[in-house]
Amino acid sequence: MKLLVTGGAGFIGSHFIRHMLGAHPKYRIINLDKLTYAGNLGNCGDYAGDSRYEFVKGDITDRRLVDDLASQVDVILNFAAETHVDNSIEDSTEFIETNVMGTQVLLEAAKKHKHRRYLQVSTDEVYGDTVEGYFNEESPLKPSSPYSASKAAGDMLCLAYRRTYGMPILITRCSNNYGTHQYPEKLIPFFIQKLKKGEKVPVYGDGLNIRDWLHVIDHARAIDLVLHKGKEGEIYNIGANEEHTNLEITQRLLKQMALPEDRIEFVTDRPGHDIRYAIDSSKIQKELGWKPSISFEKGFGEMVEWYLEAASV
Ligand SMILES: NC(=O)c1ccc[n+]([C@@H]2O[C@H](COP(=O)([O-])OP(=O)(O)OC[C@H]3O[C@@H](n4cnc5c(N)ncnc54)[C@H](O)[C@@H]3O)[C@@H](O)[C@H]2O)c1
Repeated sequence: MKLLVTGGAGFIGSHFIRHMLGAHPKYRIINLDKLTYAGNLGNCGDYAGDSRYEFVKGDITDRRLVDDLASQVDVILNFAAETHVDNSIEDSTEFIETNVMGTQVLLEAAKKHKHRRYLQVSTDEVYGDTVEGYFNEESPLKPSSPYSASKAAGDMLCLAYRRTYGMPILITRCSNNYGTHQYPEKLIPFFIQKLKKGEKVPVYGDGLNIRDWLHVIDHARAIDLVLHKGKEGEIYNIGANEEHTNLEITQRLLKQMALPEDRIEFVTDRPGHDIRYAIDSSKIQKELGWKPSISFEKGFGEMVEWYLEAASV
C-alpha cells in the first residue's frame, strides 16, 4: 500500500510515519508538508534516507500538487493543520485555509482517484469542554476556539463527503498528546525550554484546566489500527483516561527537574479557555481492541529526559 501522509514533519505525523515504516515493511509513504514554523524535517531525520519514504514540500491547499500526489497513492491520512489555539485567537485566517480548505482539497483528490481510504486526524477539542462526564462519538460538536472550530468544520466536510459520495472516510478524535519532537509552543516543551533557560513558567488562570494525556506513539498505533480495521464512515475517539490539570503537569515537570514551585507564575487566562476535555474511548477499545500501551508515569519521565538532552529545546 502507498500512503500520502500530510503534515508528516510535525509532531504526531512524524511519529506516525516512523511507526508505519517499522510496522509495515512493504508500505511506501509520501510525506507532504508545507514546513510551516511547526514543521521540522529533523523530526524525520532517522528515516529520511529510507527508500520507502519520500518527502515533498508543499501545501495541502495546492490543488494541482495534491492531485498529482493523490494519483500515486491508495490512501490519504491528513495530519496537516494549524494547531496552536493561542495563534488561532490572534488570527484564524490560516486555520481556515489549512484546516478547512485544505481538507476540502484532499477530499476532492481522494474522490477523484477513488482511494481505498481517507483518514482525517481530528481532536477531542471539537466537542468543547465539560465539567463532568465524557463525550462519545455521537456527542454534538461545540468547539470553543477558532482552532477547534476549524477542526470541527474539517470533520463536517468529511462526514458530508461520506454521506454524499459514499467515500471510505474515517475520522479519529484524540486527546492531548505528549512525547518527543513537539514544537516548543505547546505546554510541555514550552515549559521545559523556559525552565532550562532559568525562567519562570506562565500557567494560565488558576492552572486547574484539565486535559487527558496520551503518549504520541499510542496515538500512532491507534491511527494504524483505524486505517486497517476501522469501519468506513465511522468516527473513533482516542484517549487514555489520564486526566491531569495543567498545574499538576507543571508540578510534575518541576519535580523531575528538581526545581522549586516558585518557578510557577500564574498569568491572565486564555480567552474562552476550555475547563476540561474528556472523551469516552470505549468504541475503539471494544470494536478494534486498542488500548494505550505506555504508562503515563514511564512515558512522561522518558519524554522529559529527551527534552532535557535535546539541544533545540
Ligand atoms: N498535538 C495534539 O495533542 C493533538 C491532539 C489531537 C489531535 N491533533 C491533531 O493532529 C494533527 C497533527 O498535530 P500536531 O500536534 O502534530 O501538529 P504540528 O503543529 O506539530 O504539525 C503540523 C504539521 O502540518 C504542517 N502543515 C501546516 N499547514 C500545512 C499546509 N497547509 N500544507 C501542508 N502541511 C502543513 C506543518 O508544517 C507541520 O509539520 C493535527 O491535525 C491536530 O489537529 C493534535
